[in-house]
Amino acid sequence: MERIEEIKKVIEEKMNKVNSLEELNDLKVLFLGKKGLITEVQGMIKEIPNDSKKEFGMKVNEVRTLFNTIYEEIKNKLEEEKINKKLKEEAIDITLPSEKIETGSIHPFNRIIMEVEDLFVSMGYDVVDGNEIETDEYCFKRLNVPDGHPARDSQDTFYITEEYLLRTQTSTAQAHTMEENKEKGPIRIICPGKVYRRDDDATHSHQFGQVEGLVVDKDISLADLKGTLEIFAKRLLGENTKVRFRPSYFPFTEPSVEVDLSCFKCGGKGCALCKQTGWIEVLGAGMVHPNVLRMGGYDPEVYTGFAFGTGLDRLAMFKYNIPDIRYLYTNDVRFLKEFDRKDEE
Ligand code: DAH
Repeated sequence: MERIEEIKKVIEEKMNKVNSLEELNDLKVLFLGKKGLITEVQGMIKEIPNDSKKEFGMKVNEVRTLFNTIYEEIKNKLEEEKINKKLKEEAIDITLPSEKIETGSIHPFNRIIMEVEDLFVSMGYDVVDGNEIETDEYCFKRLNVPDGHPARDSQDTFYITEEYLLRTQTSTAQAHTMEENKEKGPIRIICPGKVYRRDDDATHSHQFGQVEGLVVDKDISLADLKGTLEIFAKRLLGENTKVRFRPSYFPFTEPSVEVDLSCFKCGGKGCALCKQTGWIEVLGAGMVHPNVLRMGGYDPEVYTGFAFGTGLDRLAMFKYNIPDIRYLYTNDVRFLKEFDRKDEE
C-alpha cells in the first residue's frame, strides 16, 4: 500500500514536468509498460493475503485511473498546443501583394476568326474545316477552273506533286461541302483558314487567312447575298458601315461582284486609307455558278446559292486598327500585349 502511495506521488511529480508528447509517452512506459511501476505493483497481488486482496486491487485501479486521467489531460493539452503552433507557423497573410502572373492574349488572327464565326453561327451557319493540302480538282476544277484557265495565273500555286497542292483559296470548302451533303439539301457554311500563294513582296505574304461563305437553297438571290453581307459588315465594323457591289468576274460565280465597304476610318468622306474614294474593297462574291452546283451534285434548275470570300488579315487590320500586315506574323510581344483582355474593355 505504501508503494502505491509512493507511485501516486511520483505520478504527480513527473507528470507536472512533461513538456512534450514524447516525454509523455516515455512516462506511459514507465508506469504502465511491461516492467512499469503500476504493472509491477499489480503483479504483487499474488502475495497479498486474501482478506486484503480486494482493498489492494481497488488501490491499484485507483492509481491506474489516476495515471490515465492525468495522461489524457496532458495529451489533449499538448496536442492542442502542437496544432496551434503549426497553424501559427503556416499562417498565410492574404493581405500581402501577390506576384503578377503573366498571361498571354488571344492572337488578333484567332480573335478575328472567333468574331466572324460567332457572327455567322448566330445566323445559323455551320463552321467547316477544310484541308490546307488539297487536290487540284477541289481547288480548281470543281470550282469551274479547268486546266489552262487564265484564272489560275492570278493564284500562283505551290504544287507538292502534280495532283496535290497547298490550297490557294478557302473556296475549296464549296466543292467538299456540296459533295458531302448526301441529301443534297440546303447548305449554310463558312470556312475560315489559311491559304498559300507564291507571292511575297511588301504587300503580299505567301501565307494568309481567308474566310469563305456558301449558301445553297431554293430561291436564293443576289438580294440575300447583299443583306447577309450588310449584316456582316455592320456587326463587324459598326452600324454606319455601307456596302456597295461592283460587277466583277470569278470563275465560280455568275454574276460575280466585288464588294466595297464604306471606309471605316473616314466614314466615307475620303482619306489616305481609302485613297480619297470613301470605299474599301473587302470581299469577292457572287451567285454560285451552275457548273459548280452541278459538279457538287445539285440541280441548278432547283437550287441556287451565293458565295463570298474575304481576307481575314485585312479584316483584322480594319477591325483592330493594325497599320502593317507584318505585325500579324512577327509575334512581337509588345504588339500582342495590346490584345490583352481586349474583349473585357
Ligand atoms: N476565292 C476568291 C479569292 O481567293 C475569293 C472569292 C471570290 C470567293 C468570289 C468567293 C467568291 O466565294 O464568290 O480571291
